[in-house]
Amino acid sequence: MSFINDTWYGPEKIMLAIDIGTTYSAVSYSYLYKGGPRSITSVSNWPDQRRQAGEPKVPTLIWYDQDKKPVRHGASALVANAMEAKENGWQLAKLFKLNLHPETMRSEHQLKTSDLPDGIPLTQIYSDFIQYLLQHTRHFFETRVVEGESVWNNHINSADIIITHPNGWGIHEQDVLRKAAISAGCPDPTKTTAHIHFLTEAEASVHFCMLKANIGSDWLKPGVQFVVCDAGGSTVDITTYEVTRTNPSLLLEEKRASACIQAGAIFIDEAATGHLRRLLSNPEWVAYAKFDNSDIEDSIRRGIENFDFEKKSFGPRDGLRLEVVSSRFKYEANGLQIRRGELLLSQGVISTVASFFDPCVDMIVVALKGQIMTLDINHILLVGGFGESPYLRQKLIHTMANENRQITIANDLTAKAVAEGALVWGTQPSVNSRACRFSYGISARDIYHPDDEEHKGRDIVRSLDGKNRVDYVWSPIVARGQVIKAKEMSSRE
Ligand SMILES: Nc1ncnc2c1ncn2[C@@H]1O[C@H](COP(=O)(O)OP(=O)(O)OP(=O)(O)O)[C@@H](O)[C@H]1O
Ligand SMILES: [Mg+2]
Repeated sequence: MSFINDTWYGPEKIMLAIDIGTTYSAVSYSYLYKGGPRSITSVSNWPDQRRQAGEPKVPTLIWYDQDKKPVRHGASALVANAMEAKENGWQLAKLFKLNLHPETMRSEHQLKTSDLPDGIPLTQIYSDFIQYLLQHTRHFFETRVVEGESVWNNHINSADIIITHPNGWGIHEQDVLRKAAISAGCPDPTKTTAHIHFLTEAEASVHFCMLKANIGSDWLKPGVQFVVCDAGGSTVDITTYEVTRTNPSLLLEEKRASACIQAGAIFIDEAATGHLRRLLSNPEWVAYAKFDNSDIEDSIRRGIENFDFEKKSFGPRDGLRLEVVSSRFKYEANGLQIRRGELLLSQGVISTVASFFDPCVDMIVVALKGQIMTLDINHILLVGGFGESPYLRQKLIHTMANENRQITIANDLTAKAVAEGALVWGTQPSVNSRACRFSYGISARDIYHPDDEEHKGRDIVRSLDGKNRVDYVWSPIVARGQVIKAKEMSSRE
C-alpha cells in the first residue's frame, strides 16, 4: 500500500484504476472518505501466482474452451497444462492488446497483430479479461477493507474508474475499452453516477513518479524539464515534461507530442524464439538427440520460458545459459553448444543475446534523442517492466554520456507504476498542459484560392455570397503537437 501524505476532504468514494498491458495487467484502488488518508492499494494475490506471488501484476492471458467460454485467466492460464489445453481444443488469447493499436500506429511500425482465438471478437476478450480483473479486485477489496462488502456495494455505482492506454490511442480505442468495461460489469455511467475516465499510460507514470519520494524531489523545481520513458511489453511511451509550479501542488506541462514506439520486450522474446528455433531444429542435433517434432517444440518452449526469466538480469557483458533439454545431454557442433542440458549463448564483443535486445534499444535511443533535442533535460524516469532491464539502463547511460549529457536514470520504480499513478492523477492531477496527440478540425467550405495547393484540382462552387469556394477542405482547430492547457478551449469562426 502506498500512502500519499495527505488527507481526503472530498466525498466518500471508491476509485479504481485498470492498466491492461500487452503482457501484464494491474489494478489499484483507493477507498476515500472524509478525513481519511489518500491511500492507494495495488491488488495482489492473484490466483495461481507462483514465482510472482504477492506481486501486483497478473499475466494478460485467457484460455477459451471449445464453446468459446473463458476457462483460465491470468496466472492460472500460465500454469494451464499445454497438453490438456490441446486435447480439449482450448484456444489461448494472448498479446491481444496489439490488435487494438490503431491502424496508423500499426502501419507506421509494421506492427504484427496477435492470432486471436477463432470466432471471439476482441471486445469480448477485453470484456472477459476486465471481468476477471474486477472479480478478483472485488474479492481483494472486500477482504481488506473494514466492512468491505457493504462499502463496495454502497459505492461501486458511483465509483471513478480510470482506464489507462498507450499515448497513441484515441477515441475509437477508448470506445472499445468503455464498451468492454461496461459489459464486464463496470457500472454504466449512463445509468449510474459512476464515471469511466481514460488516461494515457505516460501521464499515469509521471504521477506515479511524483508519488515516490525516493526519486529525490529536490530536483523538481519550476523550469526543470524531464522525460518519462515507460518501456513495457509492446510499446515504449516517451513524454517530456516541464515543472511549472511546485507549490501548493506540483504542476507539469508537456513540452512536445509524446513518442509511442513499438520497441517493447516482446520483440526481444520474438528474436530469441527465432534464434532458439533455428538452433534447436538443426537436423544433425535432432538426429543425435533422437528427437521427434514434439521433443523439438518442447525444448524450444523450455528455452523460451527460461529466457523470459534470465533476460531480466542480462547486462551488456553477459552470456546466457538456457535449460532446454534434460541434463544428460552434452553436444557441441554446428554452432550449437549444450552442456548438462543447457544451451550456451555467447557473450563478449558480439553477444548473441545483445543482438536480441539491440533493435529495441536502438529505437528507444533514437526516440529519446528526438524528445530531448533542443531541451535541457537532465532526468529520465524509466518505468515499465522492460525499464528494469540492466542492459537497457546501461545502454542509455552510455549513450547519454556520449552526448555529454548528465542524465540521472531514476530506479526503484515498480514495473506496475501505471495503475497506481492513475489514482494519483484521479485524486490530484498535476499535468495542466498537454501536447495534442491528434489534429482536431472540421471539413469546411473554403474560399477558392488558385495558388493554394489544397484547392488545386477540386470542383469550384459559387456560393450565395457570389464567391468561388471549394468543399471538404481540412480546417484545423488544434494542430497535432500543439501544447494546450487542460481547461483551455479552442474554437474557430
Ligand atoms: N528486467 C527486465 N528486463 C527485460 N525485460 C523485462 C524485465 N522485467 C520485465 N520485462 C519484460 O517487460 C514486459 C512487462 O512490462 P510491463 O508490465 O511494463 O508491460 P505491459 O504493461 O504488459 O506492456 P505495455 O505497457 O506495452 O502494454 C514483459 O515483456 C517482460 O518480459
Ligand atoms: Mg504497460
